[in-house]
Amino acid sequence: MSYEPIIKGNVKEFSVKPNLLNYEEARESFSWDDIYKELDGLEGGGLNIAYEAIDRHAKTSLREKVALYWEGKDGNSEQYTFRDLYILTNRFANVLQSLGIKKGDRVFTYTDRTPEIFVAILGTLKAGAVVGPLFSAFGPDAVKDRLQDSGARVLITTPGLVTTVHEIAGELPALEKIIIVNRRKTSYELSENEVSYERLMESASEEFEIVKTEKEDKAIMHYTSGTTGKPKGAVHVHQAVMGHYATAKYVLDLHPDDIYFCTADPGWVTGTSYGIFGPWSNGISQVVYEGGFSASHWYSVIEKYQVTVWYTAPTAIRMLMKAGEKVIGKYNLKSLRYMCSVGEPLNPEAVVWSVEAFGLPFHDNWWQTETGCIQIANYPLQDIRPGSMGRPFPGVTAAILDEDCKHELPPGEEGNLALKSGWPSMFRIYWNKKELYDSKFINGWYITGDRARKDEDGYFWFVGRADDVINTAGHLVGPFEVESALIEHPAVAEAGVIGIPDKLAMEVIKAFISLKDGYEVSDELVMEIKRFARKKLHAVACPKEIEILDSLPKTRSGKIMRRLLKARELGLSEGDTSTLED
Ligand code: PRX
Repeated sequence: MSYEPIIKGNVKEFSVKPNLLNYEEARESFSWDDIYKELDGLEGGGLNIAYEAIDRHAKTSLREKVALYWEGKDGNSEQYTFRDLYILTNRFANVLQSLGIKKGDRVFTYTDRTPEIFVAILGTLKAGAVVGPLFSAFGPDAVKDRLQDSGARVLITTPGLVTTVHEIAGELPALEKIIIVNRRKTSYELSENEVSYERLMESASEEFEIVKTEKEDKAIMHYTSGTTGKPKGAVHVHQAVMGHYATAKYVLDLHPDDIYFCTADPGWVTGTSYGIFGPWSNGISQVVYEGGFSASHWYSVIEKYQVTVWYTAPTAIRMLMKAGEKVIGKYNLKSLRYMCSVGEPLNPEAVVWSVEAFGLPFHDNWWQTETGCIQIANYPLQDIRPGSMGRPFPGVTAAILDEDCKHELPPGEEGNLALKSGWPSMFRIYWNKKELYDSKFINGWYITGDRARKDEDGYFWFVGRADDVINTAGHLVGPFEVESALIEHPAVAEAGVIGIPDKLAMEVIKAFISLKDGYEVSDELVMEIKRFARKKLHAVACPKEIEILDSLPKTRSGKIMRRLLKARELGLSEGDTSTLED
């Protein structure tokens, strides 16, 4: 654990509770009930995330404030006020009702980062349905697993992406309708179960009475990877908005005049919790850039929109470091006043670099798909210890537990990072996987699956994952998913997948395979298997490297020993090999 150098937080007076100038005081004075009182709630009772994000502002003087500045990747741009989004999301909720969608039904999105995805997600919530956003780079298997498991009735997608859905259409019995968003007006002929977004929206009423949802009604599900099995759907309820709202305000330090820029895609939880619900429940204007990572595009977005608060991820920050300071010099980035990072360990060098490059540090924070909102953070008014994730959010209790997850460990000792269960945005179920969900809770603690340490002053330091899950460029990838895709190739007999260290992406995926009889080792075969995997999986989950072995190390019960593959690859001690097959 290194404490030096300590970087001063950028102190700015923030007169509302909790006063994070005094962390202990903030913890004492914080109450989720107070946060709840800052929300509006539905008329006549109930709570709905979309109402808190859009409608309540559309009824006040904020109605003409720009909620969304959208910057297309082709240089085109659009703006939507809170009132515009109010009308569009009402229309979309009407569209869903006209298709027979009822409270609790699952509606999934699989689109590019265009304004329609925001309309669809919020409109679905207004209709009382459960929304499941999918990342646009997912391949057919990834889409199929999620739609099948959730039993989604409606999918919103585009002419470009629907071809992926056509490949798996026969295997999705619950899917009744596909809504095609064709913003670029490409020539596309709708098939039998497909309807046009533009046409339905045009004729839909702009009045809609939000379907009454309660605090504990299901609202949104994001699929996340574990060590074994297929990805599981972590489901959040409407009161999760309390967590989005409070943490966007106090951790991302959003103030009424801010222009906020979150680089995450709504296909992942950061892109919904902090790319939709957090900023908009606070009535903040935000910028969305359609394209992926690009140092020059990101800087030009910051300059053009005078971005003040920026939330991004360590791999991106490391790529910005690589792109260098010369490119920064071409833009005026003086509007920036506060920057945060999440998703992977933020190396101390990146924090120090950001101070040199932008005059501001990145504030690291920690959370998970399951936690729904930020749990541990470096705060705006406080000093940063580069390399540390910071301290628990007021209203959240975190601890380091021993191997059995029964006792708290003293400062300095490595153990299991756990959270006292009960914060509002905690996931309520893994869809259809009750046993797995229950197994994550021990003695009232939610066991996060991360290993960490706490120092004497209560700052948390990330150590690694407790399981085999790989974190590549901030995306969790379950080795089992990749192995399952690989063994579907006719040449592959068995596969074992691990993460290996990488300077930029933290980890990249390496696969070890053995071949079935009759197949010869060749570079062409490796290339073909890589292409095969890319078609089945999404880009981030594809192995960067595939190595062919005669056979893979297995336990006597036949389980591939990923731990051993990793130890051998990295030249580490092989540890206990007593269960290894002879
Ligand atoms: O291992 C931790 C890592 O990312 C995991 C959560 O990933 P996901 O569910 O995809 O959530 C993404 C939204 C944050 C964690 O279990 N992680 C997240 N933040 C950090 C981190 N590792 C180190 N430092 C962080 N700040």
